[in-house]
Amino acid sequence: MIDRVRVGILISGRGSNMVSLVRASEAADCPYRVVRVLSNVEDAAGLALAADAGVPTWGKSHKGMKRAEFDALLDAELRAADVELIALAGYMRLLSPEFIAGWQGRILNIHPSLLPLYKGLDTHARAIEAGDAEAGCSVHVVTPELDDGPVVAQARVPILPGDTADALAARVLVEEHRLYPQALTTYARTLR
Ligand code: GRF
Repeated sequence: MIDRVRVGILISGRGSNMVSLVRASEAADCPYRVVRVLSNVEDAAGLALAADAGVPTWGKSHKGMKRAEFDALLDAELRAADVELIALAGYMRLLSPEFIAGWQGRILNIHPSLLPLYKGLDTHARAIEAGDAEAGCSVHVVTPELDDGPVVAQARVPILPGDTADALAARVLVEEHRLYPQALTTYARTLR
């Protein structure tokens, strides 16, 4: 029996990438298992999906709290669950430098662009507007700068004539659901 890397996933919304990570973890040879799903949005749809999949959840609104104060709560939850590796999956809030410093090389994120292009929001609209021939998604290690750490995996999709941001986002999302479990699997193996 392999000693699987204990993963905590942070979400803020629907949680479709989180579900793809949890599903992949059900394979017998998967090197990680998801031990907690946490959210800064108490009623995030993804929390119910995680609970349905049998993963313990934690949800608390960050509203009215300082960033470092909220992140200290998150940190305590993750450490109480013996989490070793964090996967951000649609976590729509910047993490404090203190939090990131405590998890150096232990936080991955998925971003819907071909980094270093289009950090931040509205990535698909910006790629179409720029006349790019292709778009995609990147999994990267999280550092204090937004969407800036080393890229560990990327997938590309063509931008089609007449593409809208929504149509392109839907096609990129299909690739996200394939790429993130692969990248997390590869990364988790490097920790054992
Ligand atoms: C994804 O497009 C992800 O790349 C971005 O936020 C979106 C989250 O979607 N960071 P979901 O909550 O995983 O469905």
